[in-house]
Amino acid sequence: MKVSPSLLSANFANLTPDIEMINSSEADYLHIDVMDGVFVPNISFGFPVMKAVSKICKKPLDVHLMIVEPDKWISQVRDSGAWLMNIHYEACTHLNSAIARIHQAGMKAGVTLNPSTPVSLLTDIINDVDLVLLMSVNPGFGGQPFIRNTLKKIHELRSLIAESGSNALIEVDGGVNESTGIELAKAGADILVAGSYVFGSSDPCEKISILKNLDR
Ligand code: DX5
Ligand code: ZN
Repeated sequence: MKVSPSLLSANFANLTPDIEMINSSEADYLHIDVMDGVFVPNISFGFPVMKAVSKICKKPLDVHLMIVEPDKWISQVRDSGAWLMNIHYEACTHLNSAIARIHQAGMKAGVTLNPSTPVSLLTDIINDVDLVLLMSVNPGFGGQPFIRNTLKKIHELRSLIAESGSNALIEVDGGVNESTGIELAKAGADILVAGSYVFGSSDPCEKISILKNLDR
C-alpha cells in the first residue's frame, strides 16, 4: 500500500518537526490540502506555505485542490513544488484541457470525486489521468467518519480502469485508519491519505507503517 499523510492535521504553529517525521517515515507522498472557502466551507493554506514545505519535504507532494476553477492556478501549483495536482471533477468545467495543461506543466494529473459524484462520470477521462482521488468524507475538514459507500465506488472504479486499459491509481481520502484501511486495501485502493489517524497519534511513524503494510 502507498501512504500519503495529510499535512492538514499537522502542527501549523511548527511544521518542521512534522515534515522531518514524514521524511524519516515509510510515507510515499505528502498530501497537501488547499481550500478556498468557496468550494469547501473552510480555508486551509495557500501557495507560500506549500512552497516552504516543499523545500524541506523529501517526499513528492500530492496536492489536493479544494478550490473553484483550479485550472487557473496550474503554474502556481507547479512552482510551489507539486508532484501531482488533483483537481475536483465538480470544480472544473473543462476537465480534458485542464488535465492536458497539468501534464504540459510537468506534473502528474489527478481527478477527485466528492462522495456523491458517481464513478461513471469518469468514463471519458479515465485514460487521461494518472490518478483518481475518491473522497470518503465531504471535503473541508479532517477527523470526519468514513463514508462506507466509498468501498462500492472503488470496485466500480477498478472495473472501469480494467475495461479501459487505464493506468490510473486509486487514492482514497477521509476517515482512513487501520480498520477502514484494511477494507480499502481489500477493495482495491492503491494509495491511502490519512490525517488525524497519523498526526493524532503519539507515534505517527508507526501509524504510517501500519497503513504501509496493509495488503490486498
Ligand atoms: C479533507 C481533506 C483530507 C483530510 C483527511 O477535506 O481532503 O485530506 O486531511 O483527514 P482525516 O484523515 O482526518 O479524515
Ligand atoms: Zn485531501
